Amino acid sequence: MAIAPIRLFGDPVLRTPASPVVDFDKELRRLVEDLTDTMRDAPGSGLAAPQIGVGLRVFTWDVDDELGHLVNPRLDLSEEQQEGPEGCLSIPELSFDCRRAMSVVATGFNMYGDPVRVEGSELLARAIQHETDHLDGILFVDRLDRETRRQAMKAIREAEWFGNPRPTIKVSPHATNGLGL
Ligand code: NI
Repeated sequence: MAIAPIRLFGDPVLRTPASPVVDFDKELRRLVEDLTDTMRDAPGSGLAAPQIGVGLRVFTWDVDDELGHLVNPRLDLSEEQQEGPEGCLSIPELSFDCRRAMSVVATGFNMYGDPVRVEGSELLARAIQHETDHLDGILFVDRLDRETRRQAMKAIREAEWFGNPRPTIKVSPHATNGLGL
């Protein structure tokens, strides 16, 4: 069991599009295991590889006591929409109403390279859309309506975790020649 540190909002890896998996090897199976362990420990309903600093198109979910994973996903979204609270392990302790497709058909591969097709609605559909966004460097706050997004960004800036453990430079290493800079 390997629990990885979860990267938080502000980490550039969360804004970097992930690469397709090419090798369905032992490392990929270890990645799926690490994602699953980290997600369950959090606990969360989904986790994408970039959230633990790995730039590959892989994610896991744990919805309605059902564990799953998907590699190189492609999504087909329903026209019907759902609106409901959404959160993210990379944006801890905050949730906001986010509009999503009500159901989704996802195709891709399992960790052994077999083609798989997953159909989900409601929470599973939300999780699959959210995690697939992570693979494209998109965060759920990007999907919020303008006013909700404004509130979300304010809450993130004020969150205790935000900006940590980024070091704070308290003393300028450069002489300021008496100027209060
Ligand atoms: Ni997330």
